[in-house]
Amino acid sequence: MARDAIRFWRNGQPIEVSGFHPRTTLLDYIRLQERRVGTKEGCAEGDCGACTVALGRVRGGRVHYEPINACILLLGQVDGTEVVTVEDLAKGGELHPVQSAMVAHHGSQCGFCTPGIVMSLFTLYQEAGRPLDRERINDALAGNLCRCTGYRPIVDAALDACTSAPHDAFSQANATTARSLDELADGQDVFIGSDTSFFAAPASEASLAALYARHPDATLVAGCTDVGLWITKGMVELEKIIWLGRVAGLDWIEDGSDALTIGATVTHAQAFSSLESIDPDLGELMRRFGSAQVRASGTVGGNIANGSPIGDLAPALIALGSTLELRQGENTRVIPLHNFFIAYRKQDRLPGEFVRRVTVPKLTAHEAFRAYKVSKRFDEDISAVMGAFKFTLDGRRIAEARIAFGGMAGIPKRATETEAALVGVSLDDPSTWGEAMAAIARDYQPLDDHRASAAYRATVARNLVSKALSETASGETRATRIIGQREALEAAE
Ligand SMILES: Cc1cc2nc3c(=O)[nH]c(=O)nc-3n(C[C@H](O)[C@H](O)[C@H](O)COP(=O)(O)OP(=O)(O)OC[C@H]3O[C@@H](n4cnc5c(N)ncnc54)[C@H](O)[C@@H]3O)c2cc1C
Ligand code: FES
Ligand code: FES
Repeated sequence: MARDAIRFWRNGQPIEVSGFHPRTTLLDYIRLQERRVGTKEGCAEGDCGACTVALGRVRGGRVHYEPINACILLLGQVDGTEVVTVEDLAKGGELHPVQSAMVAHHGSQCGFCTPGIVMSLFTLYQEAGRPLDRERINDALAGNLCRCTGYRPIVDAALDACTSAPHDAFSQANATTARSLDELADGQDVFIGSDTSFFAAPASEASLAALYARHPDATLVAGCTDVGLWITKGMVELEKIIWLGRVAGLDWIEDGSDALTIGATVTHAQAFSSLESIDPDLGELMRRFGSAQVRASGTVGGNIANGSPIGDLAPALIALGSTLELRQGENTRVIPLHNFFIAYRKQDRLPGEFVRRVTVPKLTAHEAFRAYKVSKRFDEDISAVMGAFKFTLDGRRIAEARIAFGGMAGIPKRATETEAALVGVSLDDPSTWGEAMAAIARDYQPLDDHRASAAYRATVARNLVSKALSETASGETRATRIIGQREALEAAE
């Protein structure tokens, strides 16, 4: 029998909710049903952070708190977690340390963004190593827009609040809360609603495969950072939702000697350090992927399955030679990742089939990798162009090249003409690079939209070929990058 309610932890109490519409967001539940209106709604699309709350989830025996955009998280997705909102932080009439620091440093003016900022700082307070530096705080605040105070006093408040290890009601209750959350993890399927309108959260791959086979018209939801916008902005009336977040076995990373295997529901935050260990450029890409809130919900599988032509992970993983495993009913199949993308928003996925995992080969001693995200803003922006390059070297010559771009076609796509033109090219002789740079024009007819014109994208892609070659030739990035130089990143490890 499936459970017909979700259960979560709230302010030291277990909560059970049933009978809600599958599209109900966490923000609507908090504001309209709990009537706790400290959590604000600004953009309703994951960009401004006004709706940030913290979710506590047990990982490795303790509760970890992550920031979440409640506007694009479905209520059903909080099953098994602790939900913390800004009203919960002050205890016994005393402000939480991050709230006191915000007051002391004048970190708020109109106050609209403040609850969201406080919640992001709360998760930083709980999770970040000490000592904290400004860059780490800036990364944590990339998903919180403040229009009137400016970030300097907010960053000062964060530095002040996080001078020593966390010592608040939440850190002191961590072990107790972890036990309470463990008790909620009953391994049962969840099914709320009827055959025509439901929120379902299968607990095993077998249940998922069977349910999806019965309802191939249902919408799969992983982190909901894409699907959430179909609901809040597209007004799409999704009636059947299957959430993958409780499926055992889809959330694992297997770190083998020559490849990483990443389960479909592994979040970007979880995948971050494993991907970074393959190459610093993947770490830099993940640091700039959305915001802390988006990385805490959004998944590797969702980013691939969504098939967006401007998604960031697909080009990088294609260049690395990744394979994708899919499952339909009892059948599984493995395909090269680049074959998954057929045409604009059309993927090689059968009815009732889901993405199971992606396997990413690690680099060998003779391989060099570079990935570049080009966007209007450094933080929280979708790429205009995303280029990824893997060169297999034979001494100072290129023996093989794998290149993929996002933003250059209706799908994430390999640059096969450019790859062929690079074979045999000498890293020491830039006069031989021109043909490969010109080949980009044969590989792509770039998108032309409000993010970037086709001409701009074509020029950027061509220049990125040259940048990847010159960085590989010189082995350094000091002259070619302002931020995120590989030498500095490697030294910091
Ligand atoms: C503010 C903001 C910033 C963003 N920034 C970036 C960015 O910098 N770079 C970038 O690439 N993207 C970005 N995104 C887009 C989005 O966050 C990512 O694409 C994310 O990885 C989607 O994952 P998800 O788990 O949230 O997918 P969901 O929204 O849950 O699902 C997306 C699609 O994939 C399908 N799906 C999900 N999992 C599976 C599965 N296992 N099998 C089959 N189908 C599945 C769903 O049905 C849906 O069609 C941003 C989004 C927001 C809101
Ligand atoms: S309301 Fe803007 S991120 Fe949720
Ligand atoms: S204090 Fe007004 S938006 Fe931040």
